[in-house]
Amino acid sequence: MRPTLIAGNWKMNGSLQSVIQLVEDIKGGDAGSAKLAVCPPAIFLMKVGGMLEGSQIALGSQNVCDQASGAFTGEVSGAMLKEAGCQYAIVGHSERRALYLESDALVAARFAMAQQSRLIPILCVGETLQEREDGITQQVVARQLGAVIESQGIEAISNSVIAYEPVWAIGTGKVATPEQAQAVHAYIRNLVAEQDAAVANKVQILYGGSMNPTNAGELLSQPDIDGGLIGGAALKAADFLAIGQAA
Ligand code: 13P
Repeated sequence: MRPTLIAGNWKMNGSLQSVIQLVEDIKGGDAGSAKLAVCPPAIFLMKVGGMLEGSQIALGSQNVCDQASGAFTGEVSGAMLKEAGCQYAIVGHSERRALYLESDALVAARFAMAQQSRLIPILCVGETLQEREDGITQQVVARQLGAVIESQGIEAISNSVIAYEPVWAIGTGKVATPEQAQAVHAYIRNLVAEQDAAVANKVQILYGGSMNPTNAGELLSQPDIDGGLIGGAALKAADFLAIGQAA
């Protein structure tokens, strides 16, 4: 049985004051037995890391640079994230891929640097609406995951988390049905199993895309859905905690 992980991706939202309030409310609440992680904007990582010291809630970043240090204006290194107290680093979020043109190769390099920095990468994969309608969901997910497996090896997957986030479900309120999500999760696990059954059995695969307290229970009860990567609903402590309880 894989443990459940509920991770909040706060994206570029909030202020110092609202972030402090959100962390206090999450810390003071009850999320059942699910493990929680929060991924605040980079500027607030040090602050939130300090607030989470000694708690069971993990800290994650929303990205990580593919280089160790040097002239990479605007980037944050894995070592810096580690120093801020991060345990996880999201890589390859669809907003990074679509809006900032991050390629499969760059995402794989960021994944590698996360692991070199002893961070657990949360690798996001997922198809657009057009790709789903064209019937190429599996090809897209296989290509995105394949780029990491080919460059890092299948063993690297055992020390990572995969997040299936259909782009059409992100921030749209249009959630994948439990059956749709489970089908892609099972496909992803199978892809890994073709190379290493033990890694496939171990790796946590999260679902992301309009998950909320109402739909979380059914999604999280699917055999290959091991948690959630939550956007909008993670900005409200009560909703975030309720998703944890639903797990
Ligand atoms: P929403 O939960 O707002 O749809 O966002 C999902 C997401 O992109 C998490 O990374």
